[in-house]
Amino acid sequence: MVGEIIEEIEKLKKEKDAVILAHYYVADWVQEIADYVGDSYYLAKVATELKESTIVFAGVSFMGESAKILNPEKTVLMPDMNADCPMAHMAAVERIEQVRKEYDDLAVVCYINSTAELKTHSDVCVTSSNAMKIVKSLPNKNIFFIPDENLGRYIASKVPDKNFIFNDGFCHVHKGITAEQLKAVKEEHPDAEVLAHPECTTATLELADYIGSTAGIIDYAGKSDSKEFIIATELGVMYQLETNNPGKKFYSAGSTQTCPNMKKVTLEKVRDCLRDNTGVVEVSDEKRAAALKPLSRMLELAK
Ligand code: 13P
Ligand code: SF4
Repeated sequence: MVGEIIEEIEKLKKEKDAVILAHYYVADWVQEIADYVGDSYYLAKVATELKESTIVFAGVSFMGESAKILNPEKTVLMPDMNADCPMAHMAAVERIEQVRKEYDDLAVVCYINSTAELKTHSDVCVTSSNAMKIVKSLPNKNIFFIPDENLGRYIASKVPDKNFIFNDGFCHVHKGITAEQLKAVKEEHPDAEVLAHPECTTATLELADYIGSTAGIIDYAGKSDSKEFIIATELGVMYQLETNNPGKKFYSAGSTQTCPNMKKVTLEKVRDCLRDNTGVVEVSDEKRAAALKPLSRMLELAK
C-alpha cells in the first residue's frame, strides 16, 4: 500500500515537474519521500533555488505561503490546507502600529512562523536558526519581536545591548514541555544531554545543554560524543536523529510533543494534491510584494 502510493507520487512528480519539500516535524514516510528535508530556514532558502515549476510543501501554512511569496511564478501546493501553525496568528497589527508609535529606532522582527499579513507589517523575518545573527546585525536599538515570546526572550538573553519588547504568542507544543517533566526525565537518564528548541519556555531552556533549531539539534546530536539525548522539541525530529545515529539513544522530554498540524500531512495527501492539483497556495500581489521585503532581507542578512 505505502509502496504503491510512493510509486504514484514519483510518477506524478515527473509528470507535473514537481519537487517535495518537507519539514522535520512531518511524518516519517513524508520525510522519506521528500526531495529536501530541513528546518524552516533551510526550506525557505531551498525554495529560492529550485528549477521545478511546482513545489509541494509538506509543512504548515506559513511555510507554503513563504515559498509562494519567494516564487510567485511557481505553483505551490499544500497537501493539507488546514495544516496551520496557531502561533502564526498570535500577534495583532494594531499592537505593531502602537509599538511603532511608542518607540523610535525600532525594528519589528517577525519569526517566520507568522501569517503573510503579519510579515507585511514587519521589517525583517527570522527563523530559529538565524534570529540571533540577524538581530545582532540590525542597526536599531529597539526590537519588537513577534509572535513568539519564548524565542524572543531567548534571543534577548543573547543580545543584551538591545531593548526588546515582547509579544505574548507561543507554540503550544513547546510550551507543553515543562521544566518539571524534563527534570524527571533527566533523573531517569542522568548521562543524557538535553537538546532543546528555543520555542520552549525559559525554565525549560535553563535545563538544556544545547539550544537550537531542529536542524541545529540534529547536527549537534550527530557531532556530540554523548550516547544519550533528551529531546525537547516536536518528536518528528526523532526520524532523522535515529536514522543518522544508530548507536545513540534519544528520549522524549515530555508527553505532549506532537504538533497536530504538522501531522495532518500524510503520504496520501501528498499524492492527492499532486494528482488533483489541490491545495494551491494563493497570495495577492499586494500582500506578496509587502511580505517579500522582510523575507528577502532575512535571506540577505542570514548569509
Ligand atoms: P525550525 O526553525 O527549527 O524549523 O522550527 C520550526 C517550527 O515550527 C518550530 O516549532
Ligand atoms: Fe507551530 Fe509549534 Fe507546530 Fe511549529 S510545532 S508548526 S510552532 S504549532
